[in-house]
Amino acid sequence: MATSNHQASTRQTNREIHLASRPEGLPAEANFRLVENPLPATGPGQVLIKNLYMSVDPAMRPPLTNGQTKLDEVMTAGALGKIVESQLDGYPVGTYVMHRGGFREWCLSNGQGLEVIQPENEPLTAHLHVLGTTGLTAYGGLLVTGELKAGENVFVSAAAGAVGSVVGQIAKIKGCRVVGSCGSDEKANYLTQELGFDYAFNYKTSNIRKELHVALPEGIDVYFENVGGAHLDAAVGQMRPLGRIPVCGMISAYNNKGARSEGVTTLSNMIYNRVTMKGFVVYEFDGIRAQFLADMRAWMAAGLMKYQETIFDGIENAPAAFIGLLQGENTGKMLVKLGDDDV
Ligand SMILES: NC(=O)c1ccc[n+]([C@@H]2O[C@H](COP(=O)([O-])OP(=O)(O)OC[C@H]3O[C@@H](n4cnc5c(N)ncnc54)[C@H](OP(=O)(O)O)[C@@H]3O)[C@@H](O)[C@H]2O)c1
Repeated sequence: MATSNHQASTRQTNREIHLASRPEGLPAEANFRLVENPLPATGPGQVLIKNLYMSVDPAMRPPLTNGQTKLDEVMTAGALGKIVESQLDGYPVGTYVMHRGGFREWCLSNGQGLEVIQPENEPLTAHLHVLGTTGLTAYGGLLVTGELKAGENVFVSAAAGAVGSVVGQIAKIKGCRVVGSCGSDEKANYLTQELGFDYAFNYKTSNIRKELHVALPEGIDVYFENVGGAHLDAAVGQMRPLGRIPVCGMISAYNNKGARSEGVTTLSNMIYNRVTMKGFVVYEFDGIRAQFLADMRAWMAAGLMKYQETIFDGIENAPAAFIGLLQGENTGKMLVKLGDDDV
């Protein structure tokens, strides 16, 4: 059994984020608390992980209000770390792993739920987005749930975010006309100039229906739904015959009580045009993960799949990163750096 002692044991505390109170509306930093606990000791059958990066995700918001996230306990999030002590066969010191023990600097694990990462040429952080969950969400949601066909008209909302930016690029690779919406002119320029979208608009300063009509006068074949509310209302009204709406998320509703979204007034178009709207969750696509990784790596190598990261530094800034995500402070994937890869 592999065992290693190193600098981790000289570090006495493990800083972590707890939920201090339940937010109403947009969370505030006061809803979270930074707590210091002793560094956990590694026991038989366990590994100690030094966390390097963690993800903040929109889906973390509803559980803060509905009670799923417990008060006064360490929160959870996807994280990427390095095993620095091991008393667990098959998980040697130095292995990079993905796991759910984010919102803390160090994490003990018995191996359950650990996913070993074997980086090739890409930066490690890519496994927290394009080569990880957000990438698979985009890939499966668009190709499986959305049944995308070459040459179709695609609209994606939250297009400059982690999922949306991958959706748009995959659709371009498949020869589609791609339109994206986002929350600033800067992001819209990024989508058209850097990522190759055919058209992008700032939904905060424009009329979504009019923009869609101008950009896709023949209508939409696939609307990749990340936002809900006014976006869904506008898109449903402009779906073409046999159009599909893979429902990935509804971020505009997540700060609302019960995550209730605004009403949609255009649903009758689903009848006339025989439109399908179908929700999905990323774990449905575990079976196509190998194909996803092969495709993404090939597209990245060919320069067809680009990405951007917005990184906050330090566990103490994890709440600010999460609140910032809900307000659109990120372009591409929002991450928090938790430690250096120095052990
Ligand atoms: N179904 C699944 O399994 C699954 C898995 C992962 C993610 N998701 C969903 O996918 C969506 C995107 O997630 P992500 O991780 O890639 O996050 P993201 O798009 O990187 O970040 C969220 C973005 O949402 C936009 N936004 C915030 N409030 C908004 C509002 N009221 N109206 C319109 N846009 C708003 C902001 O960009 P702007 O500046 O453009 O406003 C923000 O940057 C979310 O709805 C999430 O819940 C679903």
